Amino acid sequence: MSAGHPELIAAIAAEIAASGPIPFARFMELALYHPQFGYYMRAPEQPVERIGWRGDFYTSSDVHPILGQALATQAEQVDRLLGQPDPFIVVEMGPGKGLLARHFLSACQRHRGSLFERLHYVLIERSPAMQVLQRENVARWFDCPNRLTWVNDLENLALEGVNGLFLSNELIDSFPVHRIQVTANGTEELWVDYQSGQFIECLRPLSSEALSNHVRRINTDWPEGYRTEINVHALSWMRQVAQLLNRGIVLTIDYGHTAQDLYRPDRKGGTFLCYSRHSVNEEPFLHVGDQDMTAHVDFTSLALTGEAYGLRTTGFTNQLSFLMGLGVEHMIQELEPDSPTFKAASHLLRPNGMGTTFKVLVQHKGILSPELDGLKYKPFFDSALTTRSAA
Ligand SMILES: C[S@@+](CC[C@H](N)C(=O)[O-])C[C@H]1O[C@@H](n2cnc3c(N)ncnc32)[C@H](O)[C@@H]1O
Repeated sequence: MSAGHPELIAAIAAEIAASGPIPFARFMELALYHPQFGYYMRAPEQPVERIGWRGDFYTSSDVHPILGQALATQAEQVDRLLGQPDPFIVVEMGPGKGLLARHFLSACQRHRGSLFERLHYVLIERSPAMQVLQRENVARWFDCPNRLTWVNDLENLALEGVNGLFLSNELIDSFPVHRIQVTANGTEELWVDYQSGQFIECLRPLSSEALSNHVRRINTDWPEGYRTEINVHALSWMRQVAQLLNRGIVLTIDYGHTAQDLYRPDRKGGTFLCYSRHSVNEEPFLHVGDQDMTAHVDFTSLALTGEAYGLRTTGFTNQLSFLMGLGVEHMIQELEPDSPTFKAASHLLRPNGMGTTFKVLVQHKGILSPELDGLKYKPFFDSALTTRSAA
């Protein structure tokens, strides 16, 4: 069993040797995003890729273009609600290989000429290696002036205020998380030490005030031994996005739950997982830098943070309902039944799979109570999202 990328392990071990054990969130930050050796930051070793069928995990856009196509339909409605601004800006953060951008742009170009003419698509990607893949996937639009821009950080987005759509798919679940555990001493945090050539976890007090405050806000009666994750970074991200948006919609797609569901007492082990070659494990100290790590998203905290900084919650649904609202059944009916493309598109709708594990949070600013087609079917979440009750 591989311990992982040797130079990355040495870099993390050196940081621990210099200043002592580090919070798990710092370990995850280095494993995924160390500037030279992190999982997402290195160019994949051929013929291996990070995301995709030859990689460690796949996302909706690897399966079928239908999500990008449906998002283009949704964007057209947002564009009308905003009075067809010029430019209409789409910011996609964490675009991975850039397939969603490619599917979105193709669908706009083919069927939504007016929107396409005014469309400015901004890709925010911190990994230079991922940016290379994105450029390959959207190369056909390079000669359209002002169509595409890249920045490596939300803070470097040189836009006065965005009028349009702020989009992400599986971004938040890739932010480093703090892992906490209820012990006889109260709530403690998992820290990472390096001893005898191995990473080991140890329990210590919570590492920051922001984390303690958030745990207090969640305020759940967890039993001793309960473990879960807190994505503090997601909250500062939400604040930044809320402040950046002038008028428009924030659409966040990810694995996740309401806080009530995510932090329920019987979910004792949390949701932290690692992905390597399409198999799942719970061993962050194996394949360090050679496997992905994720944790499910607390959509209640995202919605409440957004509300505190000027966004309104438009609605919350799952991928199946979102896509149905945008008319995917008509798109699917046009495919040959039982063909590979038909099966791929249906995969994204599976009620016991991607259709329901993926959730969609929609928030708005500067538009009066928008009624979006993607939110026509909101199965059961609405009130649960904005209350902390059991959470
Ligand atoms: C799981 S992949 C998302 C894949 C992609 N959205 C898709 O649908 O296939 C996460 C992506 O987000 C990027 N990322 C993570 N944190 C980021 C940040 N703070 N700023 C910009 N990009 C980030 C990663 O480098 C990676 O490309």
